[in-house]
Amino acid sequence: MATPTLLILPGDGIGPEVMAEVRKVIGWFGANGRPFTVEEELVGGCAYDAHGAAISDAAMEKAQAADAVLLAAVGGPKWDKVPYDVRPEAGLLRLRKDLELFANLRPAKCFDALADFSSLKRELVEGLDILIVRELTGGVYFGEPKTITDLGNGQKRAIDTQVYDSFEIERISAVAFEMARVRDKRVCSMEKRNVMKSGVLWNEVVQQTHDARFPDVELSHMLADAGGMQLVRAPKQFDVIVTDNLFGDMLSDVAAMLTGSLGMLPSASLGAPDPKTGRRKALYEPVHGSAPDIAGQGKANPIACILSFAMALRYSFDAGADADRLEAAVERVLADGLRTADLIGPGGGKAVTTSEMGDAIVAALG
Ligand code: IPM
Ligand code: MG
Repeated sequence: MATPTLLILPGDGIGPEVMAEVRKVIGWFGANGRPFTVEEELVGGCAYDAHGAAISDAAMEKAQAADAVLLAAVGGPKWDKVPYDVRPEAGLLRLRKDLELFANLRPAKCFDALADFSSLKRELVEGLDILIVRELTGGVYFGEPKTITDLGNGQKRAIDTQVYDSFEIERISAVAFEMARVRDKRVCSMEKRNVMKSGVLWNEVVQQTHDARFPDVELSHMLADAGGMQLVRAPKQFDVIVTDNLFGDMLSDVAAMLTGSLGMLPSASLGAPDPKTGRRKALYEPVHGSAPDIAGQGKANPIACILSFAMALRYSFDAGADADRLEAAVERVLADGLRTADLIGPGGGKAVTTSEMGDAIVAALG
């Protein structure tokens, strides 16, 4: 079998530091029978500085060709004033849209060693293991028109468009039901059908998809605001949550914080399986951002990015056992009390830098 290719996009802020630790992990797997051909490209503000675009066409071509793309983070105050179309986030959105990565999986798992670190009481988050399935290529992120118009009377009008076709709702809910089948077999769908037409259709299509194809999975519906409230009241009631692009963006940040730190949470964005090869295009990235305030100081937590690579092993390379091994290494290092700056708090622990955390995880791999 040909060596699989990985395209690495470190991006901005803490991105390059955390990606350097992922490179160590990739190196370990390479030395232990699972080699990758690794390429690297620019995305975000650094790409704008180099080419005047948030991602170049050449980098997009490599992303289309790669077996998986690994991205760390984009953006920062340095690019606050660049034109909207080439702002750093546009690079990330182009990757999602052009690769048609409609299914964003955001697991929120509470590591035992960090349960006291959550903003909620230990008993509410201990053992927490939920999966947010966020629609990623539709909704208000991409809907047209998307404009700011000068009304000529001293007023301006901004328009964003929330739009969903039924096929988009059907395919994302099918991913959620499939994921639930190998978990606790429960899906909760969240929308705002009480104020939004797209919510009415969302609710209807998720229910139809369930009834026609996934009757073995338990389905419930919640209004997205109530869902946010329930996530902080009793998060363990959920197994899989399926929701649209914008609600998923917000609810996944809430869910992430329940686990103690945004620095812990990985994500996978997947396309439809290729009809011939069965392969899905895929982008793996931490949920956290570029944290420019702590960039370059060795304070960043590389775990979310490392766990994103574990998701790549599981979903793109059919290497579930290697993914388990990497996740276990992370768990061990946390249980040993190693803590990057974001994890210093209740219970103390041994303060380590970004690079020391990466080294410890590699050492724990064996
Ligand atoms: C995320 C981020 C992005 C989003 C930003 C950086 C455009 O917040 O992946 O959750 O809003 O989708
Ligand atoms: Mg977000």
